[in-house]
Amino acid sequence: MTTTESKDLGAEELRARAAEALTRARARSDALTDAVDDEDLIRQHSKLMSPLVWDLAHIGSQEELWLVRDVGGREPLRPDIDDIYDAFQHARADRPALPLLSPAEARSYVREVREKAFDVLERVPLGGRRLTEQAFAFGMVTQHEQQHDETMLATHQLRQGDPVLHAPEPPPARPGTLPAEVLVPGGAFTMGTSAEPWALDNERPAHEIAVDAYWMDTTPVTSGAYAGFLDSGGYDDERWWSPAGWAYRTGNGITAPRFWKREQDGWWRTRFGVYERITATEPVVHVSFFEAEAYAAWAGRRLPTEAEWEKAARFDPASGRSRRFPWGDEEPGAEHANLGQRHLRPAPAGAYPAGASPTGVHQLIGDVWEWTSTDLHGYPGFAAFPYQEYSEVFFGPEYKVLRGGSFGTDAAAIRGTFRNWDYPIRRQIFAGFRTARDAGPGEG
Ligand code: AVJ
Ligand code: FE
Repeated sequence: MTTTESKDLGAEELRARAAEALTRARARSDALTDAVDDEDLIRQHSKLMSPLVWDLAHIGSQEELWLVRDVGGREPLRPDIDDIYDAFQHARADRPALPLLSPAEARSYVREVREKAFDVLERVPLGGRRLTEQAFAFGMVTQHEQQHDETMLATHQLRQGDPVLHAPEPPPARPGTLPAEVLVPGGAFTMGTSAEPWALDNERPAHEIAVDAYWMDTTPVTSGAYAGFLDSGGYDDERWWSPAGWAYRTGNGITAPRFWKREQDGWWRTRFGVYERITATEPVVHVSFFEAEAYAAWAGRRLPTEAEWEKAARFDPASGRSRRFPWGDEEPGAEHANLGQRHLRPAPAGAYPAGASPTGVHQLIGDVWEWTSTDLHGYPGFAAFPYQEYSEVFFGPEYKVLRGGSFGTDAAAIRGTFRNWDYPIRRQIFAGFRTARDAGPGEG
């Protein structure tokens, strides 16, 4: 086979992969928006969220901007609506008042954009500019749609009314007991990536970073363990809270994770319209950074730094290399992690032994996003690409980094290097945490 032929084959594979990823994202967007009626699509279910119909047309608008106009060099379809669907022009709380496309208009708009984007994908040379190398722009737009699909799932969780989403239960915990924590050795490891084709700007470049030895929780903190903190009066004891956390706790009357309620017989919560007893073995979800930080202090521990999280997720002591995922370099399968809205809840601690890292840390990918103690910043050598508003404008002390993805995150939008962020007060996202502690002298 000649070099040219093998290059073409690579391009065909890339096109097929991009088409498959875009199609899967659209199936999810459709499922999340078809599950409710027009009135529910237009309604604002929470001031923290956009109407679902805004997310849908915004997905199309970003796809038009990057794939149809920029990569494809085609004429704009709807230049008149650019402003309405620019997230930086209008805060979420103000979006219901905009002259939004109706549900029928939004559906036909995203369909039309997708047809044009597929036409571009078939014809555009892959390479020659950074946006098209490795089909990057198609990967970026896929991830953007999947990120909004997770945001729409969070809107569903805030929605009042009867359940409309249904999914099978996640796998049970496997028999056998896991140690509570594992030792991650000290020393340098490679953080971030320069090789992952669809990695976003803030994951780049790969760089060496030294981390002291530490003990990491084997699994995310469970609802049962978290209830122990609540039941021992942890929310009334200022000692466990940072000053900002205590001000938030008291100023907002925060008394338990979002969606939890105390009943005569223990803790209950609402999950996608179902009121149910909490599952003690399942990772706690819908806690703010401040609550996570307070729990860790109560437990005599701390949140991991972002570098500690990534070392636990990627570092293989046998080879000294950083992997793409805890289990290796292959894409996530159903046996590795609870991803993709396949189950509408986190799986019990210990449900994914095949997804464990070389150092023995479980469930780093999927189930719940994990708060870290690190503020969002650019890695050494960071360069915004292709636009500053993806991540650079959020750098600074206001945002905390979350890692690993949740049951609501698609495999296309998560990897060992992926970085998410939010305000430390936010709880509508599918966020939980695990804790860590420094290793003693002579350990690791
Ligand atoms: C990376 C998840 C914080 O949802 O605000 C969506 C992703 N950026 N549209 C967000 C994103 C532009 C972003 N997060
Ligand atoms: Fe967006």
